[in-house]
Amino acid sequence: MSALSVLVLAAGQGTRMKSALPKVLHPICGRPLLEHVLTAVRGLKPEGTAVVVGVGRDQVCATLEKRGWNELAFAVQKEQRGSGHAVLVARSWLKRRQGTLLVVYGDTPLLTTATLAALVKEHKRSGNAATFLAMDVKDPTGYGRMILDVDDAVERIVEHKDATPDERRVTLVNTGVACWDLKKLLQVLPKLRPNNAKHEYYLTDAAALLRQIGGRVGVLRAQDSGETQGINNRVELAQAETVFRQKICERWMREGVTIVDPATTYIEASVELAPDVTVYPGTVIRGKSRIAAFSELGPYSVIDDAIVEEGAKVGPFARLRPGAVIGPHAHVGNFVEIKKTRLGAGAKANHLTYLGDAEVGPRANIGAGTITCNYDGFTKSQTIIEADAFIGSNTNLVAPVRVGHGAIVGAGSTITKDVPADALVVERARPILKEKWAYEFRKKQQTKKRTV
Ligand code: UD1
Ligand code: CA
Repeated sequence: MSALSVLVLAAGQGTRMKSALPKVLHPICGRPLLEHVLTAVRGLKPEGTAVVVGVGRDQVCATLEKRGWNELAFAVQKEQRGSGHAVLVARSWLKRRQGTLLVVYGDTPLLTTATLAALVKEHKRSGNAATFLAMDVKDPTGYGRMILDVDDAVERIVEHKDATPDERRVTLVNTGVACWDLKKLLQVLPKLRPNNAKHEYYLTDAAALLRQIGGRVGVLRAQDSGETQGINNRVELAQAETVFRQKICERWMREGVTIVDPATTYIEASVELAPDVTVYPGTVIRGKSRIAAFSELGPYSVIDDAIVEEGAKVGPFARLRPGAVIGPHAHVGNFVEIKKTRLGAGAKANHLTYLGDAEVGPRANIGAGTITCNYDGFTKSQTIIEADAFIGSNTNLVAPVRVGHGAIVGAGSTITKDVPADALVVERARPILKEKWAYEFRKKQQTKKRTV
């Protein structure tokens, strides 16, 4: 049978993360660990995928649903009694399926579809009862050791805590990823016993049990041991983040994006960039940001769920928040924050500005220190700046308000009423000017000081 189903184990506590957040929801490059695993799994196009949830299960399910994972089945493991027990709680789902079951742990986010596919292929080719993905590591501490027979088949798997000193010297370890003949797995699962250091039902014990009923258990050695690294604490979380971030940068560089310093560039997995974009150091691009060709981002800019159109310049030190759309060849300069605002083609906001809930027409010039006052504490209001308008420096635009096409707003104005097209408006107090006043004032003060 060639049918493939996938079971992802994600019920564990993640004690070593020391976190209120379930381990599998910790993000790397903006996506929960579990979602990385599910994305790799989805590439296999399995007939069904189920997730075993336990600790924080409501939060895990709700997060997956919110992020668009609607076709998953869930099995609940109320008490965490081991990876074998986790598979057992899904048995009614498993009984409705046939062929091959791929089991993956939810804390191995760097796994790729290609590696999983290679394991499935090897499993099917060999006719094994089970095939484990193993890896050779320098320091096997903590991992299950693969004990092989002379024919390179798995005799059994010994967990670190249960291993003898000799067994601990084995450097070929279990990655946690394995393919199983579903029918045979269901046959041996009830025979698992928690006779081990952790008093848990180990899925890995099913290997020896399969052998007892005459099934062969094989291994496939992983090409890249970094890919199968499990995340158990925040040090490993940061290491995985670095690896994944580097992979994302490399992917975009190969697609034609110039990334001046990949080590300080943070591009989330969900971002899309066109060829001939240039990204300068210290730039963070998040969410569903879309960046068009010939635009330049950074240095030191944050772009979150924003759209940057062709040839636009953003930065240095700019912040684009969700809903910002920077039109073709528009410029956003230092200390400018833009939220839910469209900046028209060729428009400029080069210094110290906040534009929120606004619509800025083509070629408009937004002077330094322009602020859209879009929020009165209760509601958000719109500011409209039409094409070719010129907003002088240090202007407050009290929304809702509209500045007409080609109008000029004098520096230092607080605009509370609509400005017609091509008009000049200056809303600032008339100057009070007293000739020599300062001179007289200083003289008087100095005489006073001397007489004291
Ligand atoms: C496990 C393997 C070990 C392997 C290592 C690879 C077992 C017994 N050991 O050890 O051979 O080298 O992974 O990283 O499987 N889980 C549940 N319910 C439970 C217990 C665990 O869903 O009751 C899930 C966890 O959420 C996790 C996975 O199973 O995703 C593995 O559990 P973990 O406790 O991390 O196992 P390791 O000690 O790392
Ligand atoms: Ca683990």
